[in-house]
Amino acid sequence: MRFRTVLIALVLAGGGMTASKAGPAIKGDVAKGEALMAERCAACHGPDGNSPVPSFPKLAGQHAEYLLHELNEYKEHHRDNEMMLPIVESLNQEDMVNLAVFLAAQKPAPGTVTEPALLARGKKVYLEGNPDTGVPSCDGCHEEDGAGSSRFPRIAGQNVEYTLEQFRLYTAGKRPYAKKVMRTVAERLTEHEARAVAEYLASLP
Ligand code: HEC
Ligand code: HEC
Repeated sequence: MRFRTVLIALVLAGGGMTASKAGPAIKGDVAKGEALMAERCAACHGPDGNSPVPSFPKLAGQHAEYLLHELNEYKEHHRDNEMMLPIVESLNQEDMVNLAVFLAAQKPAPGTVTEPALLARGKKVYLEGNPDTGVPSCDGCHEEDGAGSSRFPRIAGQNVEYTLEQFRLYTAGKRPYAKKVMRTVAERLTEHEARAVAEYLASLP
């Protein structure tokens, strides 16, 4: 409990996800976002952001603040990905806002659980963390149902492979924005816990 409070305090001190660039209520042109999505993103993320490939993140129903923030993380080379980099280079801020509001308004498709036997363990990690190793519970930030908020990303229904890859990237310091929070979380998860909680996320509607 105390550990969770400390982590939340760190996030709040760091400004969290409420991008000062756009403020909490992001306004954009959903129709323009839809057109851009079809033209430049659909091949990998699907026309509505329900990415069919397990290693690609689902974007449908994600919070606009987080989407805009992450697109800028790629643009500023804080997140390095050879597939996303050329894409974001072709987008201006207005494009990114329009894409973010379009995607936030899409209905997320249910996730795909690949190892149902791990769900019970994953649920325990999600709701209780691991007091022995200092893993905080996830619901304090991402909410009990994984829906997140304007400050913390939605992680419900996410593709298992993508989630596991993000834990690896956090541990390796490759998502530096989150180094104080998710790096600590990812470093402390055992491989088994990481897989179990990733399966549990996929099971959340
Ligand atoms: C060639 C395939 C490809 C295309 C095209 C593509 N993406 Fe991606 N996208 C990816 C991959 C792979 C990742 C995960 C990369 C990583 O691990 O950092 C990703 C990650 C993202 C993320 C981060 C998601 C998260 O949960 O943190 C956002 C946002 C995103 N893409 C939006 C877009 C948008 C908007 C477009 C179109 C303008 C687009 N992508 C086009 C492959 C693609
Ligand atoms: C103190 C708050 C906090 C706690 C506790 C927390 N997270 Fe996070 N999480 C965040 C923040 C903030 C981000 C976005 C950071 C960034 O931009 O990289 C994030 C990002 C993520 C992502 C990446 C999302 C994406 O689309 O790429 C995953 C997966 C995740 N968290 C899973 C978990 C799990 C599982 C737990 C519990 C074991 C957990 N988090 C606990 C704050 C938290």
